[in-house]
Amino acid sequence: MRIAEKAHAKINLALHVTGQRSDGYHLLDTLVTFTETGDEVTIDAAGEDRFTLSGRFAGDLDQADPSGNLVIRARDGLRRLLLRDGRTAPPVHIHLEKNLPVASGIGGGSADAAACLRGLMRLWAAKPDGQALADLALGLGADVPMCLLSRPLVARGIGDILEPVALPPLSLLLVNPLKPVSTPAIFRRLTNRHNPPMGTISLEGLPALRNDLQPAAEALEPAITEVLAALRATGATLQRMSGSGATCFGLYPGIAAAREAAERLEARQPGWFVEATTTLR
Ligand code: C5P
Repeated sequence: MRIAEKAHAKINLALHVTGQRSDGYHLLDTLVTFTETGDEVTIDAAGEDRFTLSGRFAGDLDQADPSGNLVIRARDGLRRLLLRDGRTAPPVHIHLEKNLPVASGIGGGSADAAACLRGLMRLWAAKPDGQALADLALGLGADVPMCLLSRPLVARGIGDILEPVALPPLSLLLVNPLKPVSTPAIFRRLTNRHNPPMGTISLEGLPALRNDLQPAAEALEPAITEVLAALRATGATLQRMSGSGATCFGLYPGIAAAREAAERLEARQPGWFVEATTTLR
C-alpha cells in the first residue's frame, strides 16, 4: 500500500510575540493558515527503512546523512511510541518531494514531519494516545502540532495551544528571495518581546495586525524588504512576512490576480521562489 500526504505550507497571516518563557522560548499569538501548495511525502512498506528525496529544493537537504531530517525524527519518534505500547512499526520507504524552499518561514520541515506522522499513522493503522502524539509533535518543533492540523487556526503559547478558526480560502502569492533565514537568529535579535496580542480576529482587521519578527528579519536580510516592496508594486491588498522569514505573502482579490502578479515577478526576478496558491479551509 502506498500512502501520499501533502505537507502544506504554513502561513502566519499575523504573528505577535507577546512574551518569553524562562526557558527562552517565545510566547506567540499567531493567525495561521495553510496553502494548497507544499511538499509531498509518500510512504511504502519496505524490507528495510529507506529515505529518498526529489524536487526543486532536495539538494538543500543532507541526502548523505538524513538522521537530522525532521521526517526521519518523526518516523523514529512515532515508532518508539508504538513499540513502547507493544505495537509493531515495520520498515518503510519514505520519499520526500521537496518543493518548498528550506529555512523559509513557511514551516517546510515541520509540515514534512507532520505529513510523515499522518502518513505513518495510516500505514501502521496506529492511533496513539492524543497527548503522547501532541508531545511527540511539539518535541519535533514548535510548528509541528499546527501542521498536523493543517487548517486555519490561532496558535498561542509557544505554538502548542491551538484553536481552529473559520477563514475563507484566500488567494495569495508566496515570494522568497532564496536566502535562508535562521529562526533562532531572528528570535535572538528581537528588541521587544512583549507586544500586544492580536485581539479579535477578522479578515478586515488583518492589516492592523503585525509580524513582530519582521523588523529583525528585514535588518538581518535586506532582500526581505525588497520582496515586500515588489509584492506591494504588484497591487497586493496586503503584504507581510511569514514566520521568521524570508518568505513573504501577498493577498489578492482572486487567484487570477495572484497568478498575474506571479508572472510579472517571475519575469523580473528569475532567482526568486514565486508561487501563486490558495489557502485551505
Ligand atoms: O521549535 P523549533 O525548532 O521550530 O524552533 C526553532 C528555534 O526558534 C528554537 O530553538 C527557539 O530558539 C526559537 N523559538 C522561540 N519561540 C518559539 C518557537 C521557536 O524562541 N515559540
